[in-house]
Amino acid sequence: MISLSVSETASPATPHAPGADTTIRVEDVSVTYRTSLERKPTFKSTLLRLGRRERVVREVEALKNVSLEVHQGSVLGIVGANGAGKSTLVRTMAGILPPSVGRVEVHGRVSTLLALGVGFNRDLSGRENVILGGLAAGLSREQLHAKYDEIVEFAELEDFMDMPMRTYSSGMYGRLGFSVAVNMDPDILLIDEALSVGDAKFRKKSFEKMRELCAQARTIVLVSHALGSIEQLCDTAIWMHKGELRMQSDPESIVHAYTKFLDVGEDAFTMEDL
Ligand SMILES: Nc1ncnc2c1ncn2[C@@H]1O[C@H](COP(=O)(O)OP(=O)(O)OP(=O)(O)O)[C@@H](O)[C@H]1O
Ligand SMILES: [Mg+2]
Repeated sequence: MISLSVSETASPATPHAPGADTTIRVEDVSVTYRTSLERKPTFKSTLLRLGRRERVVREVEALKNVSLEVHQGSVLGIVGANGAGKSTLVRTMAGILPPSVGRVEVHGRVSTLLALGVGFNRDLSGRENVILGGLAAGLSREQLHAKYDEIVEFAELEDFMDMPMRTYSSGMYGRLGFSVAVNMDPDILLIDEALSVGDAKFRKKSFEKMRELCAQARTIVLVSHALGSIEQLCDTAIWMHKGELRMQSDPESIVHAYTKFLDVGEDAFTMEDL
């Protein structure tokens, strides 16, 4: 999965009309992260190269030929071990990360909640971040004005909205992120591991909010290690393994196969959810 090389990767992407009820189409997508780093010099190599440092490019194939479709109104759960490529897949769906190979089509207005409030500027206040986040999500000023109180009330952060977000605890940070994402009335909601935000009370509340959203005709993609939530909220699921789509089925079968693979037993996750 991890290799050292200096090769370039092409990134073709051509538009294509999906089926009528397909909201997200991922076609043969591969993503290779390339990180340029300095090879650690040894005493001998330093002598040989007289102090010049050698740069190497480290490549990680985070997604390999992944294809899938998410239909209008369905709730897709994504499970898999750490480093399996789940966040990378959601980032390509969100349009934040272009695929190295293949194409991704998304039809609808997307709201993305990628791991605890990514996208917030820590030096700005909660209020400024909510406004910027809303405008970036395509809401008009009037819509945003109407939504603002709802967002703050859901996050229960009325007293903190004028404080810079760097002063927030990580739970507070995550609550505001969750509240912004779910209150934007998106056609498509991409959620990467956000149900475990906050204390037990807030987790219960966010789970209920998710249940409400899942019952509406929205398309939702939910990445979570909380397998109980995947079973309860999703109507279809995939298991990512080392960058590959290992299995696609109903959530119960996916959770069963994945926990069997992890060798933890299905009881291991029942307490983590709420
Ligand atoms: N920005 C990046 N630069 C280089 N490599 C990255 C980057 N982001 C992720 N990777 C690598 O890509 C692979 C997939 O990472 P990804 O974050 O998609 O996994 P994940 O399934 O979301 O894991 P987790 O359950 O821990 O959130 C990992 O090997 C990781 O090291
Ligand atoms: Mg992740």
